[in-house]
Amino acid sequence: MILDFRLYFRVRKCIDRDSLERSLEYTMDKKKPVAPVNELIVSLPGKEIKLFITADFEALITDLEDAEKVPCWAAVWPAAYGLACHIWEHITFRPDEEVLELGAGMGLPGIVCGLKGARLTLSDFNSQALEMARYNARANGVEPELLLADWRSFPEKKHFDLILASDILYDPKLNPSLGPIFHKNLRPGGRIFIAHPQREATFEFIKDWYDASLFTQQIHWETVELEDALLPRYKIAIQEFKKQEDSGAKG
Ligand SMILES: C[S@@+](CC[C@H](N)C(=O)[O-])C[C@H]1O[C@@H](n2cnc3c(N)ncnc32)[C@H](O)[C@@H]1O
Repeated sequence: MILDFRLYFRVRKCIDRDSLERSLEYTMDKKKPVAPVNELIVSLPGKEIKLFITADFEALITDLEDAEKVPCWAAVWPAAYGLACHIWEHITFRPDEEVLELGAGMGLPGIVCGLKGARLTLSDFNSQALEMARYNARANGVEPELLLADWRSFPEKKHFDLILASDILYDPKLNPSLGPIFHKNLRPGGRIFIAHPQREATFEFIKDWYDASLFTQQIHWETVELEDALLPRYKIAIQEFKKQEDSGAKG
């Protein structure tokens, strides 16, 4: 029964679709019609977050052969719900704390950090994702910085207090690029949250990357319920890594 769910998500048709489409039009592929959007309501305990997401995922696919062109940024993945809930319920921020969300897609966990008072940088290599994520952040009263960057050539931007990685460690070919980003962009004493639906590739990455002399680690679990007839329930692993305060030279 739906009220028993700890987390509940529902999608409904966007009421003010035209104005959102106009605002996104300039970032969308001009050769294709502007993708219609749906409104997604994310219900966290005591808080509703409204996100606009594409209504037609397949319309954004330009080349099925090329994994980089599959628009996985356009969905909100179960890991993002789980991480958003974990942050909402368990994490507090000082006003000057800086959060970087990598592979942000629609940016849900980052938006929750912004709602809790952190300064937010949303990052992705897809500019449409970043525009939509910014639109969604603003719709919820959060003003993010945007960082358009590919993990394979990622800048050393600044030393963040928290780095969010929601379902981004799924590709064994790309995963090795993430380790150096974590090391170079996290301050000593800072934390990384890696959220995933228990992916083998993510556990493998962590096994290779984790260095107990640099980080302490904890694992948290969130159960996510979705309105999905096929896969309604996910157990999301949230692996938390805290960088040692004296790790400066070693990282
Ligand atoms: C599975 S989606 C996860 C999106 C979001 N974090 C979530 O959990 O809903 C992976 C995200 O990583 C981004 N991404 C994939 N490869 C990337 C790369 N090489 N550099 C930067 N971002 C990348 C995609 O654009 C997409 O937004």
